[in-house]
Amino acid sequence: MIVLGIETSCDETAAAVVDDTRRIRSNPVLSQLDEHRPFGGVVPEIAARSHLDHLDSLILRALDEADVGFGDLDGVAATGGPGLIGGVFVGVMMAKAIAAARDLPFVAVNHLEAHALTARLTDGIEFPYLLLLVSGGHCQLVAVNGVGDYTRYGGTVDDAVGEAFDKTAKLLDLGYPGGPAVERVARDGDPLRFALPRPMLGRPGCDFSFSGLKTAVRQARQGLDSFAAQDAADLAASFQQAVAEVLADRCRHALDRFQQEHGKAGPLVVAGGVAANRTLRATLSEVVGGHDAALLAPPLPLCTDNAAMIAWTGVERLRLGLSDPLDFAPRPRWPL
Ligand code: KG4
Ligand code: ZN
Repeated sequence: MIVLGIETSCDETAAAVVDDTRRIRSNPVLSQLDEHRPFGGVVPEIAARSHLDHLDSLILRALDEADVGFGDLDGVAATGGPGLIGGVFVGVMMAKAIAAARDLPFVAVNHLEAHALTARLTDGIEFPYLLLLVSGGHCQLVAVNGVGDYTRYGGTVDDAVGEAFDKTAKLLDLGYPGGPAVERVARDGDPLRFALPRPMLGRPGCDFSFSGLKTAVRQARQGLDSFAAQDAADLAASFQQAVAEVLADRCRHALDRFQQEHGKAGPLVVAGGVAANRTLRATLSEVVGGHDAALLAPPLPLCTDNAAMIAWTGVERLRLGLSDPLDFAPRPRWPL
């Protein structure tokens, strides 16, 4: 089975061809970073127009790199939500058009489900497992029981963790996107200099909160008489340390609950752009070690937004006989 996947829900235009032997035959991604950078964040209207400009040629490139034609496909999958609605429309309409013209099944993919199933594509792991999804738009802990079968253990009650990194970077004049910049300058910083809060630490459950942390960073900066490179480094390091400790605490709770419900403590899969952060990865390694569980992080290009994960979700759903009608309406919100 060979499936074409399309991803247009945020600021990456992506198309990919994946087959049911878990082979990624092609996976080109076009980042719109340069188009959004002058605005310090993603501008939905610019994103949608850019997807429209680039998607058709990118699909042809994906097919070409995979050495397949439309006639070789067994299905077309596109992100149907959640995401920026203008962009989702572009991808969904394209996928429906191809499906209609070629008489192929169409799969509307929940973007979060695609992140959740990526570890099955990259590592072939079996259900169930625990997922920590940490990106710019999402922050949640989910038990992945099967295709379409998820138990949400917790999520952020305000900002997503990537969003907190991006906002902190702005407060520290580090530019956009903020996560990699915060990590870079934090390397030379003292994580103990600023006593930032650890929101939710020690509370029962698996929810997160990051907006107070961001406010504390702002106040710490305002409290300084001057602001030199070392101050930015120390604040970035203190922020990153606080985030890591909070995520570790929430993951410990989730692993405990998963153990009770499934009789095993993991594995814990971490996905999303923030999974690139080395401090976070090191902290999570310690956490799973304490629970005798494995930590699995898909390679970075498959952790961040891409269409291979969309195509793979198409494979998983089509194998179960699941597809969607051509009157599917894109969903700006679509909880797992
Ligand atoms: O998954 P992703 O590429 O896009 C979505 O949000 O769906 O994640 C992007 C987020 C941004 O907020 C970015 O600042 C953050 O991931 N990020 C990082 C790092 N690299 C990217 N955060 C912390 N440390 C990093 N090294
Ligand atoms: Zn994503």
